[in-house]
Amino acid sequence: MPPVVSLVTPSIERIQPYQPGTPIEQVAERLGFAPSDIVKLASNENPLGPSPRGIAAAGRELERVHRYPDSESPALRAAIARHLSVAIEDVVVSNGSNELLELLVRTFCAGGEHVVFGEPSFVVYRLACLAQGVPFSAVPLTPGHVHDLPAMARAITPRTRIVFIANPNNPTGTHVGTAALERFLREVPREVIVVLDEAYCEYADADDYPDGLAYRAIHPRLAVVRTFSKIYGLAGLRVGYAVLPAELAGYIHRVRAPFNVSLVAQAAGTAALGDAEHVRRSRELNLEEKSFVIAGLEQLGLQVTPSQANFVLVDVKRAAGGVYDALLGHGVIVRTVPPLPTAIRVTLGTRPENERFLAALRTVIG
Ligand SMILES: Cc1ncc(COP(=O)(O)O)c(C=O)c1O
Repeated sequence: MPPVVSLVTPSIERIQPYQPGTPIEQVAERLGFAPSDIVKLASNENPLGPSPRGIAAAGRELERVHRYPDSESPALRAAIARHLSVAIEDVVVSNGSNELLELLVRTFCAGGEHVVFGEPSFVVYRLACLAQGVPFSAVPLTPGHVHDLPAMARAITPRTRIVFIANPNNPTGTHVGTAALERFLREVPREVIVVLDEAYCEYADADDYPDGLAYRAIHPRLAVVRTFSKIYGLAGLRVGYAVLPAELAGYIHRVRAPFNVSLVAQAAGTAALGDAEHVRRSRELNLEEKSFVIAGLEQLGLQVTPSQANFVLVDVKRAAGGVYDALLGHGVIVRTVPPLPTAIRVTLGTRPENERFLAALRTVIG
């Protein structure tokens, strides 16, 4: 018998591949619907579509795509720096913020350092650790589905290099408030990198929702990660960014791939950042639809977790897989949340989309 050589590490063996929201075309083909009849509320995308300024700029770049982009993304980084009043040396851009989350683990935990994150939270933190063989502690959220920052602080060891906090959190929509965040940042050892993943920050409206950038002076190793995929509506172009100390940015530049943000994505992101009108309309729609959908769900006797994001977590009080399948039969795609067996996560859509969802759910749960 030849010796059995393992092709991958035990850590990679443990990975369950990322499960994206089911694509519209797949559901349409399987169920015989026209794609335009499918309502996709599964990936927290912007129901108003992309920033018009962003797509106009993207279109103008298409003629030049025989050229590589500038690998340093100077115009996009300068626009982000101006927009947020930070130094350009503190800005790193990436192929979706997903790439940055992975780069943080690859760059700063290459020696097998330890990572802390909440559970359930954005699944990519776990995937990035497993892919690199990095040990981690997944700290359960509180019973109200909020990050338990005191417990996360207790999970920090001398080997801990990164703490990820999604704020608002995906898949729960909950947020950590100003007081809790400040207390945590004052307690955490100076050398630990605290990553505030603010993919949904533009949707938040709670008085105590903290703007992570305001806390940079409190903790020297704070990284604020944001994206163009959500309120700017550019998920398909893949562009995100981080604001972090220039020293950390410099190390990420050593590890990232050259040309990691495409020519088209750089131009679209730069233009979208100036599209205040699209951001305002998207935010207003989301706030209106949040109230509408929550009221509809409560009328069905369901419990909704308070959300600061563009989606809600709903306890459907029965196996979520069955509800997901039944909604699919009505042409409505939502998301199950594996660690929470009776919960579904529903992106807030346009009013007609939300009405379709509520009507379908009413039929499904009878
Ligand atoms: C909390 C959070 N962070 C990051 C991302 C990654 O987004 P993107 O890679 O599209 O920027 C998502 C996507 O859903 C998310 O929910």
